[in-house]
Amino acid sequence: MNEQKGHVIVLPYPAQGHINPMLQFAKRLISKGVKATLATTPYTIKYIDASSVHVEPISDGYDEGGFKFAPSVEAYLESFKSVGSRTLSELILKFRESPCPANCIVYDSLFPWALDVAQKFGIYKAVFLTNSASVCSIYWHIKLGRLNLPLDKEMFPISLPGLPPLHSSDLPSFIARPADHSAYLAAIMEKFEILEHNDWVLCNTFQELESELVKAMDGQWPLLTMGPMIPSAYLDQPTEGDTAYGASFWKPSRDKYLRWLETKAPGSVVFVSFGSMGSTTAKQAEEIARGLKASKKHFLWVLKESESEEKLAREFLSRLGDDGLMVAWCNQVEVLAHKAVGCFVTHCGWNSVLEALSIGVPMVAVPQWSDQPMNAKFIQEWEVGVRAERDSQGILLGKELEKCIREVMDGRKSEDIRKNSFNWSQTAARATGVEGSSDKNISNFINRLMAKNI
Ligand code: UDX
Repeated sequence: MNEQKGHVIVLPYPAQGHINPMLQFAKRLISKGVKATLATTPYTIKYIDASSVHVEPISDGYDEGGFKFAPSVEAYLESFKSVGSRTLSELILKFRESPCPANCIVYDSLFPWALDVAQKFGIYKAVFLTNSASVCSIYWHIKLGRLNLPLDKEMFPISLPGLPPLHSSDLPSFIARPADHSAYLAAIMEKFEILEHNDWVLCNTFQELESELVKAMDGQWPLLTMGPMIPSAYLDQPTEGDTAYGASFWKPSRDKYLRWLETKAPGSVVFVSFGSMGSTTAKQAEEIARGLKASKKHFLWVLKESESEEKLAREFLSRLGDDGLMVAWCNQVEVLAHKAVGCFVTHCGWNSVLEALSIGVPMVAVPQWSDQPMNAKFIQEWEVGVRAERDSQGILLGKELEKCIREVMDGRKSEDIRKNSFNWSQTAARATGVEGSSDKNISNFINRLMAKNI
């Protein structure tokens, strides 16, 4: 390999659900002989396994701890834009003095300003979409003026190219309730204004998974499907030791849950996890505990909540003996891949959905916000699980959860759901395996990257 070519700076938003797939992408590039540097905030670096990737700091203007110190989402994104642009430029200049200058920035879609930085230095630029291509296509139609917000009740179900008919409850919350999420919506729409200016639009999905949509968007974006970006141990081309993403904001109590899982029969455990950003109120936690108890299944539940809420659920669980285990954090992919796990109750974050789909675990979809309702819609479309309904207060009641778990694990359709889940895991493995659709796309990306003289 010519050392002067092929150095990618990967710039994720500093949140677990964004770092995971982008770090995995960096690792995939490294495994194919390309130099990759993860650029992230100083307070994030300590959570990243430095043996997996080279990491460099860039600042969001809140070096003492980021987002939680910012007065608002708007202020945080604005600060990241101004301070981040400057520190990213400094990093590129620093690499210019090295034997391997950077010739590409792969940036999180929440940082559209990184495109200007790449253009300033005349290097390749690629936006990384951490949502599904289907979700992103909806924002695209808004940008083109085919959908106007707020949406009119009369318009439902909405019919869009490459997508099934969509009801209000299927739409990303930023679109269904734009007034509640104006800062995020503005940041998202900003990226769609400039999408065509990128050399690539990298999407963490695979062609077979969203085939109709990929066809419908053909020629509109420089789209490259290259996922699922999950640790390769769970796919077709395992790299030794790649069993975790290599970034974790919380510490997994690994020994505890692995020991517990080992004592359970294959396919008997319900795994409950609502991702890194969501929160579970005390009332909701109690309903979940009630539903799990009524299902009479073993369960492993990740609850990283405030002490009082956690205490409440723990008290409830203490009466359940060995049936359930609660942990504050785990290596989720490792748990999903454990033979004891037979069902995943998920908030439908896109990473979680891709992980369960690739590992072949049936799901109960409990979407909360953002892109999650749309991901839940697809869990139903792919027939790999069921969607749980909330009551009029937005609470998932215990009896609804119990019903859904039974449907997925023992119900009339459970055999088909298991079969479909297995089949999707095979398709995901083929997509990432040698000459699979995603693998070919990554190779094309690398070939073009290596051809550019800086
Ligand atoms: C959010 C959005 O929901 C998601 O759709 C978007 O594309 C990225 O940002 P988040 O809500 O955290 O992410 O959910 P998810 O996308 O599922 O990501 C969570 C990640 O944390 C997953 O990769 C999961 O494996 C990991 N995780 C979660 C753990 O490793 N351990 C846990 O205990 C819980």
